[in-house]
Amino acid sequence: MNSFISKPPDLPTVSSAATNDQSVASANRSPVVDVDNVYKSFGAQHVLNGVSLTVHPGETRAVLGRSGTGKSVLLRLIVGLQEPDSGSVRIFGQDIAGLSLDRLAPIRKKMGFLFQHAALYDSLTVGENVGFPLNHHRADMSKSERDERVSQVLSEVGMEKQSDKMPAELSGGMQKRIGLARALVMDPELLLLDEPTAGLDPIGSAEINELVLKLQKEHHIAFIVVTHDIHSARTIADRLTLLDKGCVVMDGSFEELKSSDNEFVREFLKHS
Ligand SMILES: Nc1ncnc2c1ncn2[C@@H]1O[C@H](COP(=O)(O)OP(=O)(O)OP(=O)(O)O)[C@@H](O)[C@H]1O
Ligand SMILES: [Mg+2]
Repeated sequence: MNSFISKPPDLPTVSSAATNDQSVASANRSPVVDVDNVYKSFGAQHVLNGVSLTVHPGETRAVLGRSGTGKSVLLRLIVGLQEPDSGSVRIFGQDIAGLSLDRLAPIRKKMGFLFQHAALYDSLTVGENVGFPLNHHRADMSKSERDERVSQVLSEVGMEKQSDKMPAELSGGMQKRIGLARALVMDPELLLLDEPTAGLDPIGSAEINELVLKLQKEHHIAFIVVTHDIHSARTIADRLTLLDKGCVVMDGSFEELKSSDNEFVREFLKHS
């Protein structure tokens, strides 16, 4: 059975938010994600113009920026759904450019994603939605093992009672949790969350933030979280990347962002 708590024992299990010691320790290990000087255009539209960022094991990076600045495109490059025009994307140490689906599959298995508009499958129950990746990728597990795993992740996100419900019966916040459970079911080392708190009320957002903090602490997952929500970024992230017009304007801690005298950073924070 694929245990949820299956991370290497030498990794620390402290919360990664605002824990400088861990950030220093993380910096000594090879990055889980290493995006180096990536460019991406669609026709004449230059979306990413030399973006670099790294994420180390157990680290959480928030990616912030105005609408249309290329945040979701960046995540799609990291997942390998799109390819950069130039620059490299290394995931778990491997350059994923041009990898065949067969070669990409084992890397993807270690990643979970919650896409920005990731709808759950309307015609499947919550439990079936969450179990979907297992049905496709874990033929080695028996049905009862898969069911047990689904119950385990549903309980991780506090939704254990909702397994037989249809997605339409759930609130937006509950649907996000189910999406998160589906992203977790394969026991990922890296989770990519695109706007996990968008559309939620402050309590729903706080619940998602707490869930991310819990996952950091208990499972030592590395995260990239795209968000417009500066409060959420501050709460969950070790480091923040602020993008503007496809360029990195600032890369640092929330405190560094706050004390920056860059005009764009100051404007962005003022309106966040
Ligand atoms: N497949 C595509 N073909 C053409 N243009 C695209 C494609 N994907 C993204 N774009 C364009 O790239 C730009 C950046 O899109 P992206 O979705 O990354 O923005 P974003 O920063 O995530 O915005 P938001 O905060 O609104 O989600 C947009 O102008 C978008 O129209
Ligand atoms: Mg987006």
